[in-house]
Amino acid sequence: MDSEQHITAINPLAGPLDGSIRVPGDKSISHRAVLFSAMAEGTSRISGLLDSGDVRSSIHAVQLLGAHVNLEKQVDGSLAGGITGWGMRGPIQPDCEIDCGNSGTTVRLLMGLIAPWDITACLTGDASLCRRPMRRIVAPLMKMGVHFDPLGCETLPITEHGSRALHAITYESPMASAQLKTAVLLAGLGAHGVTTVNEPAPSRNHTELMLPEYGATTTAGYRTASVHGPCVLQAKEVNVPGDPSSAAFLVCAALLKSGSSLQIEDVSLNTARIGFVRTLERMGADISVQRTGIAGKEPYGIISVRYSDELRGCEVPAEKLASVIDEVPVLSLVAAHAKGVTVFRHVNELKIKESNRLAAIIEGLDQLGIQAWIDGDDLYIEGRPDCAQPSDLVFDAHNDHRLAMTWSLVGLCGSSSVHIIGFESVAISYPTFLETIRGLTA
Ligand code: S3P
Repeated sequence: MDSEQHITAINPLAGPLDGSIRVPGDKSISHRAVLFSAMAEGTSRISGLLDSGDVRSSIHAVQLLGAHVNLEKQVDGSLAGGITGWGMRGPIQPDCEIDCGNSGTTVRLLMGLIAPWDITACLTGDASLCRRPMRRIVAPLMKMGVHFDPLGCETLPITEHGSRALHAITYESPMASAQLKTAVLLAGLGAHGVTTVNEPAPSRNHTELMLPEYGATTTAGYRTASVHGPCVLQAKEVNVPGDPSSAAFLVCAALLKSGSSLQIEDVSLNTARIGFVRTLERMGADISVQRTGIAGKEPYGIISVRYSDELRGCEVPAEKLASVIDEVPVLSLVAAHAKGVTVFRHVNELKIKESNRLAAIIEGLDQLGIQAWIDGDDLYIEGRPDCAQPSDLVFDAHNDHRLAMTWSLVGLCGSSSVHIIGFESVAISYPTFLETIRGLTA
C-alpha cells in the first residue's frame, strides 16, 4: 500500500436510487478534444470537458508543448473555454519531461502526436503507468521513422525523437486498441500518403469520428481506419457528451439496489462504448436507450434502467470485449448477483490496465464468496443471487479508479459498510461519484 493511500468507509445508501442525472464528460472524447485542439490551427471552443486527473494530464502535456489553454470550471463541474493550438508551426521543444500521471490515453496518443515533428520529448508517468506496456505504440511508430531511447524500450520513461520524414504505413494491429490505432493515425497526419490501421476486432472509434470535424480526411470501416497526410488540423467547436463508462457505475448500482429506477441523460450512445448496455440486456436487465441528439458525429441520449431481481449470466464474445473493456470489473460484480455463469472471452488486456484488473476481480469476488476463475484467456463468474454479504470487507482498489467504484457498490448497495483502500483514485475519471450516487437516494 502506498503511504499516501487512505482507507475510506463506504456506508449503505439510505434507499433506492431514483431520478434523472447527468454524468461528467466522456474521458476518451475529452482527451481527444484537448489533444486535437492543441494540434489545430486557431482556437477551438470546448464545452462539457471532463475535469479529472486523467484529462488534466493531457492538458498539462499540451501546455508543455506550446498550446494555450484557457479553460474555466463551470457550475456543473465541467471545464469550458478555448484551446489555441500550434497548427502549422508544430509543438515547441518541451523544456522538461512530460509527466502523464496515471493516463495511458495521454501518453499513448501523445507519442503519435509528437511523432511527425522535430522535437525530443521524455515521457513518463506514475508507478502504474510506468508498468504498462508501450511496445505496442513504439513498434508501429518506429516503422514510420520515429526513434526511441532506450532502443527496444518496453515501458516508461521513454525518450521520443520525432521526425519530419515519416513514412505512411498500413499496420496490422495485433490487438483491438483505440489508443494504438489513434497513435498511428495521429502520426499518419504528418506522413505523406495514406496511413491505415487494421484491427482484429473493432475498438472505440472517437478518433475516426472527430478527426474529420477538425478537417482531416479519414476513411473508416469495420476493423479499419485510415488518414490522408500531410494534414494540419483546423480549430473546431466540441461539445463533450456524458461518459458511458461513468454512467455504467450508476446503472449497475440501480441493478444491485432493490427498488431503484434511474435515467442518465446526455450520455454518449456511441455503439463502441455501450456494450455494457447490450450485455446487461442479455442478462435480462430492464434497460433501454433513447437517442436525443448528436454532438459532432457522436450520438448521445438517455439510458434508463430499473432494478430487477431476475438477472441471468451471459457470454461476452471476444469480438465484443473492446466495447465493454472498461466495464468488465463492474459487470463482473453484477454477474456475481445473476443466476448462472457469465463468461468474458479473451480478457488478457485486463491484466495491463491501470492495475491487473483480472486478478483484482477474482480477488474481490472471492471475498464476497463468489467463484471466479480463468480458463485459457476467458474469465468465468458463477453468480449466486442469494449469497449473503460477509461483514467487515476491506477491498484494495490497487490505485485503480474503476476498481474503487466497483467495490464501493458492494457497500453502497449491500447490507453493510465496506472499507476501500485507495478510494481517492476515483478522481482519475469521476471525482464526484460518491456525492452523485448519494444524491440519488430519497
Ligand atoms: C481508450 C481506449 C481503451 C480504454 C481506455 C481509453 C481511449 O484502451 O480501455 O480507458 O480513449 O482510446 P485500449 O486502447 O488500450 O484498449
